[in-house]
Amino acid sequence: MKTTKLVMLVMTIAATLFILIPNLSWAADDGATLYKAKCAMCHGADAAGKPAMKAPSLISDDAKKLSDADLATAVAGKAKHPAGVKALAADDVKAVVAYIRTLQK
Ligand code: HEC
Repeated sequence: MKTTKLVMLVMTIAATLFILIPNLSWAADDGATLYKAKCAMCHGADAAGKPAMKAPSLISDDAKKLSDADLATAVAGKAKHPAGVKALAADDVKAVVAYIRTLQK
């Protein structure tokens, strides 16, 4: 009886890790994919900004000083942002912000 419970516990932990770990790496991929699909045409693939689009650099020293919350507010709040950007779900914004942080390094 005890052995069965232990086996169940180990199986549960293994299954949980199996589900969680790929999800973590997908989140990072999502940020990059979202950025390329929704932001790169204005802010540039490297996030250095595009003067022609009047889109500022997201990797400048100024942008680095912005908090994650500042960046998220800008994504949802800039009048210049198209509806598809402003309507991004909070999780998607988080993923994109995390991706921008990797570009800032
Ligand atoms: C249609 C072009 C366009 C797209 C698409 C776009 N942006 Fe912008 N973005 C702008 C412009 C223009 C500004 C400057 C607006 C202003 O200062 O009022 C801006 C400003 C910002 C700022 C504020 C920067 C600062 O220094 O204050 C952030 C952060 C930002 N965008 C992130 C994003 C992210 C993330 C995406 C994709 C999810 C995105 N933008 C998509 C044009 C765009």
